[in-house]
Amino acid sequence: MRSFTSLVLLAGVASAHYRFSKLVINGETEATEWKSIRMTKNYQDDHGVTDVNSADIRCFQMKAGTGTATVAAGDELGFVADQGVTHPGPVQFYMAKVPDGKEINTWEATGNVWFKAASIDGTNPTGKTSGFTWPTYNKKVTSFVVPKNVPSGKYLVRVESIALHQAQSAGGAQFYLACAQVNITGGGNGTPGPLVAFPGAYKSGGPGLIFSWQTTSYTPPGPDVWQG
Ligand SMILES: *[C@@H]1O[C@H](CO)[C@@H](O)[C@H](O)[C@H]1NC(C)=O
Repeated sequence: MRSFTSLVLLAGVASAHYRFSKLVINGETEATEWKSIRMTKNYQDDHGVTDVNSADIRCFQMKAGTGTATVAAGDELGFVADQGVTHPGPVQFYMAKVPDGKEINTWEATGNVWFKAASIDGTNPTGKTSGFTWPTYNKKVTSFVVPKNVPSGKYLVRVESIALHQAQSAGGAQFYLACAQVNITGGGNGTPGPLVAFPGAYKSGGPGLIFSWQTTSYTPPGPDVWQG
């Protein structure tokens, strides 16, 4: 009886989490999972990452990529969360350009190579406790516009949903994330930045990773969004 109850509880917990496994390009959803997103370690149970110092905070990947999507600069690029984004918190998008001569399926994207392309923050118009609303909450698709001025070429695009419901203390924030492989066409000649590393960009218990019902103002972690 006890083990049965535990199983039911585990199933309940798992179904509240999510994975990002399909892209939506200008409204068109990929037909299968992991087509141009590197398969993540939570591909079965949808669990999140909690250790911001682990390599999993970069792409959470199980294995190398297999496919690359083509996306034009200025297009809307979305990620599908299988269960929807069922936890409150911001969703952010980072990009890293694959260096010339590197293979997109296997490039590890270590070091200061990531810039923040977009951030969907919460709002608290009344400034009161428990006053936040999160635009991505319970949404299946979260998307951003690929900066028009980003140079053309191969990129990893990292989506990150930071779940804050258990972030009252260090290590409580949960990260749901994945890296897509895209070939950007029709780009510009901007110089994206500032560039940060994963791990490295976030500190356990640091800015943007502590949140409680008493929080009245909030800024997501990481660098400023690149203003291309
Ligand atoms: C990316 O797109 C360009 C322009 O269409 C093309 O020449 C190149 O072969 C593509 N690269 C990949 C890896 O798909």
